[in-house]
Amino acid sequence: MTDGPLVIAIDGPAAAGKGTLARRIAEALDFAHLDTGLLYRAIGFAVLQAKQDPSDEAAVLAAVEEPESLRLGDPALRRDDVADAAAKVATLPGVRKRLLQFQRDFAAAPPGGKKGAVVEGRDIGTVVLPAANLKIFLTAALEIRADRRLKELRERGLQSIRSQLLREMRERDERDEKRAVSPLRPAEDAAVLDTTELDADAAFEAAMTIIRSQPDFADKDRS
Ligand code: C5P
Repeated sequence: MTDGPLVIAIDGPAAAGKGTLARRIAEALDFAHLDTGLLYRAIGFAVLQAKQDPSDEAAVLAAVEEPESLRLGDPALRRDDVADAAAKVATLPGVRKRLLQFQRDFAAAPPGGKKGAVVEGRDIGTVVLPAANLKIFLTAALEIRADRRLKELRERGLQSIRSQLLREMRERDERDEKRAVSPLRPAEDAAVLDTTELDADAAFEAAMTIIRSQPDFADKDRS
């Protein structure tokens, strides 16, 4: 992928900080940003609304429109029950297949005529965009990720019980890591960035150091 838009793939488990990092990198490089988790969340939400079983592939595919018409800005997509439904629909091969081309098209022709794309998810570096110019696998200890998610929920006025949140996140990680199709794992050529001891600013600086060390990205940094 040397001609055409530059692509950065960011993968990692729940609440590792992918969203914040991906947005900041996209801003610094003036790239487009795609949070692919929102695609699975939007499908999970549509299935919950249609009162269908998120594990029933035929019902899920019937309840879901084309990726282009999914409403990715709906705040309800952030809900934990939606995250849970998303992780269930994400195990279905038909769902992943339906989303694949949309994600590839985004990277091949980033909206707004941008020169590149930052695409975040679970399988971007391994399956969706294996030829990405740069792959970052962002991770952090489960307890730290749960504490960050708890803080974020409280800041939004939502109450959550830590032990329950930890259990739900562990289950979601396991479902993502153990599923047969596109399991969560670092690509062989990914730079692994562990943010257990890094705050958002330090994680951004560490990621930008990785990006600047890549010849493809020379002169692209506006920050
Ligand atoms: O990243 P986020 O927590 O919003 O993702 C919600 C769920 O969508 C994940 O737990 C995962 O099961 C699924 N997902 C996926 N592949 C992606 C992005 C998200 O399977 N590329």
